[in-house]
Amino acid sequence: MSERKKLYEGKAKVLFATEDPHVLIQYFKDDATAFNGVKKGSIHDKGVINNKITERLMTILATVGIPVHFLERISEREQKIKKVEIVPVELVVRNRVAGSMAKRLGRQEGELLPRPVIEFYYKSDPLDDPLITLDHIEVFGWASKGEIEWILHTSSRINDVLRGYFASIGIHLVDYKLEFGRLSENPASLVLADEISPDTCRLWDMQTGKKLDKDRFRRDLGDVSEAYHEVAFRMGLMKSA
Ligand code: TMP
Ligand code: ASP
Repeated sequence: MSERKKLYEGKAKVLFATEDPHVLIQYFKDDATAFNGVKKGSIHDKGVINNKITERLMTILATVGIPVHFLERISEREQKIKKVEIVPVELVVRNRVAGSMAKRLGRQEGELLPRPVIEFYYKSDPLDDPLITLDHIEVFGWASKGEIEWILHTSSRINDVLRGYFASIGIHLVDYKLEFGRLSENPASLVLADEISPDTCRLWDMQTGKKLDKDRFRRDLGDVSEAYHEVAFRMGLMKSA
């Protein structure tokens, strides 16, 4: 790892260059933060688990024709990805009320939404990722009208696939965050990027309602690493929970 050129270090991952200018290595750390870095900690084995969970979910999505930046997992904590320019808009897809939606709108966590709701946040640490509208995205040129249409259509397909997959392993996919990027090789092509893991999803056990995601860290609920292991175990990625 030492001879590789580090291109970017985020809160949970590091990006390294490879010999191919269009391919990067994404390294998953155990570091965990919440509330835009205000709360800091570490979750044992998180990097290893999130690398494997992201590999599996990206592969499932690729199989049904969703373009993804994921290429291959190359080690416990690393995967090769296509280089992209990230669209500076985070999408949150919600199937049930939870988290900031419950707080902002004064609704009960767990309420099933009559249809999935998609929210947009401007990706900016100094501004604390503010909630934005479609107009903001277009007017400030963060994505074109055509790109927004594609992202919305693709997110809806992703939701159908992921919701069904998690249901098959006894988990409610409550909500999650998606990021998209333009391929460095061909900026006209958008792909799903970043990660999909218990860091970026709310995952609730269908039987007990137990939270199996980063809310255990955010809210000091305990058994954080155990919850990540449980998700990986149900996905068939670990021999025991
Ligand atoms: P929220 O309810 O706090 O807005 O979070 C919605 C979903 O997005 C939840 O599954 C956690 C995920 N998320 C991230 O992946 N990164 C973030 O920075 C935030 C705030 C939420
Ligand atoms: N990812 C954000 C942070 O690093 C917030 C979160 O996931 O809750 O602080």
